This record gives sequence, structure tokens and C-alpha cells, in this order.
Amino acid sequence: MHSKTVYPVSKFGGELRVPGDKSVSQRIAMLTALAKGTSEVSGFLHGEDAMSTLGAMCSLGVSAKFEGDILKITGTGGKFMEPANPLDMGNSGTGTRLLAGLLAGQKMTVTMAGDASLSRRPMGRIKVPLELMGAKLDLTGEQGTLPMTIHGTPLHGIRYELPMASAQVKSCVLLAGLFAEGKTTVVESRPTRDHTEKLFQTLGIPLHIDGREISLHGFGLKGPQIAACKLTVPGDFSSAAFWIAAVAARPGAELVVRGVGLNPRRTALLGVLKRMGALIEVEFTEEQGDPIGTVFVRGAQLHGTEISGDEIPNLIDELPMLAVTGALAKGDTVIRDAAELRVKESDRIAVTAGHLRSFGVEVEEHADGMTVHGPAQLHAPKEPLAAYGDHRIAMSMAMLATFADAPVKLEQVECVATSYPDFWNHLEQLGGKVE
Ligand code: S3P
Repeated sequence: MHSKTVYPVSKFGGELRVPGDKSVSQRIAMLTALAKGTSEVSGFLHGEDAMSTLGAMCSLGVSAKFEGDILKITGTGGKFMEPANPLDMGNSGTGTRLLAGLLAGQKMTVTMAGDASLSRRPMGRIKVPLELMGAKLDLTGEQGTLPMTIHGTPLHGIRYELPMASAQVKSCVLLAGLFAEGKTTVVESRPTRDHTEKLFQTLGIPLHIDGREISLHGFGLKGPQIAACKLTVPGDFSSAAFWIAAVAARPGAELVVRGVGLNPRRTALLGVLKRMGALIEVEFTEEQGDPIGTVFVRGAQLHGTEISGDEIPNLIDELPMLAVTGALAKGDTVIRDAAELRVKESDRIAVTAGHLRSFGVEVEEHADGMTVHGPAQLHAPKEPLAAYGDHRIAMSMAMLATFADAPVKLEQVECVATSYPDFWNHLEQLGGKVE
């Protein structure tokens, strides 16, 4: 088990590029797998989640190799091979839920399994709509959890109102809809990240979007015809978020992040930080499905705010880091409507609140969020902090540690590699000290 000690620093900032977007990389792995011929993808994330998904696609008959920064991925033209063994999805909820949709209508039986954290995450949320489409799915874990076996069957389209704001469930149903007969419509409860829709459009799959309703006409068993193509993965905004928020809350600090994805369904953090008094500017440099650009940040004394409603899905992965930012801001930072955090890689409400308290921060936990009272005098916790298999908890606590009064030991930090293998190097590059 890996641990790291993060030291407090008085100066922090600089310039960097973050690795490729985890959500986009995994969707590209699945969609280029459907294409005929070899696609070329630049900026594909080397993190474990993206690699687990790519590995699963290879077990299904895809071939993939990296040539420098370019991933060459040769698709199956839609005819997958039945894998000999269960697919190991590692820690990837996105890989598991989206792939279940893609495979539900294939003529084959596939089992998917994952690590301890993924094996605790709810899968009933995809089983329900997939079964409405005619799929046969067994969840053999204790409580509607992995391992999952999919017995591929012919599917039919449905109209499905999402009971929770989840891009993973939305994408699962849309991917299943590609191999269904008839029309599939998903109605979102709140707008969530739209990378699947954008990629469908880039790849020429017709999609109709009317407010919160997304519809497509299925291609039945033969699936869609997709041509091999060249795609670029933008830098992951959720990885950049740690540096952006930490610098925004440190008066005198400066940061430039280049090549980062700026899809508005991912960047609600910027609006919240600005509301808290942050000095942030954005420059758009290119557009390839998602807008890409540079984020400039200058640190300031922030003040608390309330984060709730439609903002939540568009910063869902940034909430642990926003709670950390709340501890540095003057006044209360209130997070509401975020009960989904309880079923992420860990219960991010309980774990974040508990860890903040161990730094001496006053926090109230709510069923759907928390209230953080800032600014706190941050004392290094006496005991090491565990990440509970959750990369975003490990990285958020590493950022808080840079503001503490003594070094902080973080345990189980190997999970950081799921989304951001270079995190510790980048922390040092920006002036952090890590052992
Ligand atoms: C993701 C969607 C979000 C997010 C996750 C990645 C995706 O999950 O938390 O890290 O790639 O679609 P939900 O859609 O389940 O909220």
C-alpha cells in the first residue's frame, strides 16, 4: 500500500498541462471499437480507468497500440468477440456502466468484475432501463452490485426518465439504443455531461436533442456504421480543478493551465469559484467537439457560497475539492442536492467531512451534502488519512495538506493513478513538497 507525506508550502503555482479527459478517453475507446478500420486518438489518458476500459475492448476483439502520444485503435466494425474470461473493469464506473449498455444487445455472454470500490457501487441503476429494453442482466454481488453477467439479447427502444442526474446511466441507455430496434429517448432530470452525445455527433450518428430529451433511432443487431477517424482528447478539467481551486484560494499565487477541456457541462466549478471571489480568466483556443483552452488563475481570499441544483452534476467530481476550498474561504460553504456523492468511489460526503474535521475544520454533514465553516486554522491530522480507494479524496486532501501547519501523511494513495498518474510530479512541479 502506498503512502505519501505532503508538506505545507508558502509558495505554489506555475504553468502546466493536465492529462487527457477520463470520461472522453473511455467513450472514445468504446466508440472507435465499433468503427471499421484504424482510428488515431491523441491525448488518450494513460490512467488506470481508461486503460481498464481499453483492455476490456481488446478482450472483445479490438486491437490497440500506442505510437508516441497517438493511440491507434482498430475497431471491430461492430462485431465483438465473446471474451474467454470476465472483463476486469478495475475501478472504472464509467467503463462498466457504459460498456454494459454497449454489450446488452450483442449476441454473446459477458461478465464484468472490478476492484473493491467498484464492487460496492450501485448497478441496479443501469439494470432497470436495460431490462426495460429487453436485456438480460445478472448482478451477482451482494446488493445489486458487480460481478455482472450480461446475456446479450435483441433490444427495443424505450423512453426513459432518469431517476437521478447521471451521465453514466444516460450514456448506457443511449449506447444500448444504438443496437435496439426503434427509437430510444432519455429524459434527463438535470443536465449532465454530454460527451457521449457530442461524440455520437462527431462520428455521424444521428441524434435529436430537445432540451433535456435525447433521442436516437436504433440500428438493430447490426449496429451503426462508423468510419475510422482522428480524434483529440482534451485535458481533463476535473484533474485541472485541483490546481485551479488550490491556487484560487491562495492569495498571491498564480497558475496557467493549458489545453484543458472547457465543455460547459464540466466547468461549473469556475462559476462557483468566481462567486467565491476567485480571479479566473479563460481563453478558448480550439474546438474539436469540446471547446479546449487555457485557464488563468490568481489567488485571493475567497468567501463561502451555496452550491446546489443544476450546478451539481456539472461539478460533481469537483465537490470534495470544493469542500476543501470552503475550509479556506471566509464564511459558510454549503453543498446541497449532491446525495450522488454517497455512491461514488467512496461515500464522498462522509469521507470528506471526516477528513476535514481531522484538520480542525468545522463541518456539518447533510444527507445530500455538507456545510463547511471557514476559514479554519488547519492543523495537520495526528493520524494518517486514508483515501478509501478514492482518487479524488486523495488528491483533495493532498491539496489541503499544502495549507496545513505540519506535514500530512496520506495512505492508500495508489488510487490516484486511476485518473491522474502524474499528479505527484505535477504537485512538485508547482512547488509542492512530497515524500
Ligand atoms: C462520468 C459521470 C459522472 C462522474 C464520473 C464520470 C462519466 O458520474 O461522477 O466520474 O464519464 O459519465 P454519474 O454520471 O454517475 O454522476
